[in-house]
Amino acid sequence: MQFTVAIDGPAAAGKGTIGRALAARFGFAHLDTGLLYRAVGAKGGDPVLAAQSLNADDLARGDLRSMAAGEAASRVAAIAQVRAALVDYQRGFARRMGGAVLDGRDIGTVICPQAEVKLYVTASADVRAHRRWMELGGDASQILAEVIARDARDMGRSDAPLRAADDAITLDTSALTIETATARAVAAVEAKLPRRLG
Ligand code: DC
Repeated sequence: MQFTVAIDGPAAAGKGTIGRALAARFGFAHLDTGLLYRAVGAKGGDPVLAAQSLNADDLARGDLRSMAAGEAASRVAAIAQVRAALVDYQRGFARRMGGAVLDGRDIGTVICPQAEVKLYVTASADVRAHRRWMELGGDASQILAEVIARDARDMGRSDAPLRAADDAITLDTSALTIETATARAVAAVEAKLPRRLG
């Protein structure tokens, strides 16, 4: 069975948590596509060549989760040739047998416009900055400024900007517990899963 769940939204909205929960619940494979851009940014040198030659070792680096790596990822992600180099891998992953969940910024709009389920997971900038601060520590007001700047770059770029697909279900996790948000995501998938025979 091919079945794609596309999850988009800004940084620290809960996409990864919901994506991993859906993957575990339904036995789907999960791809955090932000990691691809983080690995390209961390590799250094020409970002287009880095994206074209991305390999498993690049994705296994231990320093990809930092705010600095997220910032570098957001910058290289604005380059159209970087994005183009990563399209085939993501589409192949999305259509693998057994089902797939991909989270990112352009999954429902560009990578998988035919995804069976599209979720747009969001939360206020204050809530997301607070989550990042709880996770990574540091200067809270600087983290908020970085979250706002990253939103502006990811939403304002000309190629594949972050936005909700017209047919996406929006989950605002500033007002929801993670359990409630996940339960709504599970219900959205169950509503679209092919009915088993017998
Ligand atoms: O989800 P994340 O914070 O790990 O993503 C890091 C950056 O990568 C994000 O600010 C923008 C970019 N990105 C993107 O442009 N498209 C995606 N599908 C995923 C991430």
